[in-house]
Amino acid sequence: MQLGMIGLGRMGMNMTTRLTRGGHKVIAYDASKRKLKGAQKEGAATAGGVEQLVVMLRRPRVIWMMIPAGRPVDDTVDQLSGILAEGDVVIDGGNSFYKDDIRREELLGARGIHYLDVGVSGGIWGLDEGYCLMAGGDRMVFTRIEPVFRTLAPKNGYLHCGPAGAGHFVKMIHNAIEYAMMAAYGEGFSLLHASPYAKGLDLADVAGLWKHGSVIRSWLLELAEQALRKDRDLSGIRGYVEDSGEGRWTVQEAVAMGVPLPVTALSLFDRFRSRDENLFSDRLIAALRNEFGGHAVVSAKKKAGGGRKGRS
Ligand SMILES: NC(=O)c1ccc[n+]([C@@H]2O[C@H](COP(=O)([O-])OP(=O)(O)OC[C@H]3O[C@@H](n4cnc5c(N)ncnc54)[C@H](OP(=O)(O)O)[C@@H]3O)[C@@H](O)[C@H]2O)c1
Repeated sequence: MQLGMIGLGRMGMNMTTRLTRGGHKVIAYDASKRKLKGAQKEGAATAGGVEQLVVMLRRPRVIWMMIPAGRPVDDTVDQLSGILAEGDVVIDGGNSFYKDDIRREELLGARGIHYLDVGVSGGIWGLDEGYCLMAGGDRMVFTRIEPVFRTLAPKNGYLHCGPAGAGHFVKMIHNAIEYAMMAAYGEGFSLLHASPYAKGLDLADVAGLWKHGSVIRSWLLELAEQALRKDRDLSGIRGYVEDSGEGRWTVQEAVAMGVPLPVTALSLFDRFRSRDENLFSDRLIAALRNEFGGHAVVSAKKKAGGGRKGRS
């Protein structure tokens, strides 16, 4: 198939490569000339702007956006809605909020332009392993694009999840599960690292061991083994954990629906905590313990501080 790709970042570039290797004709656009050159090396044609991309594509056009969620997607959809024609298809493969998909499908639909939301999982490994694809939108349009999905995904790696927003809703929950799984691995390995057995125990070996026949084997564990082999104590990195939105949206949806998600919520808040080594809430707890019990507090200037004699 012929397809336009907007966004040649970590995901869009590799997906372009996988598609050209799979025999598809990709015309790519990114603001960076260096990335356009990279895509050309992988066999893609390139456009100097979104308008040129639209002109270069045969009708009915298929355009895949692989760009950051929010404003960049809104701006691009607005621009496309003015220059695409009836029957064309716009696909958002980034991590957009599912309610934005419903709005965008309506906006484009009013002009006869189709819209699919496709949650993509697989990260930078997707180039060789394939991407897991979770699609939402009109099933007939999904079927039309299936040759592209078949190339991007590994065997059995794509699914039509329902109408507009369903793809990104399923991807949002996929990422929330990822948060909780990573938090559980993080805690388990943290206790092993602090344990009396840590000296004689290679944590990479444990991660490697658990890949074989254990109940908790997973790809994340394979990645944990790799990371621990490179840096046994992970001393080269700070424990600062970012989030890209899906965890927050999942917790907000759970609150709106009244569905208990304590583990996911905790793993999300723990990421926030990871970014601040000196939380006000912790300082208040330390101050309260000092006030009611005279328990020692650590001074902001010194590593260790004294306290009054305790009452309780
Ligand atoms: N990385 C992952 O593991 C992963 C996995 C699944 C889904 N996703 C999602 O996929 C999307 C892309 O992720 P990524 O990791 O590839 O991000 P990235 O490496 O930051 O690349 C984003 C690309 O989008 C381009 N871009 C930014 N704003 C744009 C705009 N307004 N119009 C056109 N292009 C624009 C950037 O262009 P410049 O070169 O000009 O900066 C860049 O090439 C995001 O929604 C992300 O959440 C990422």
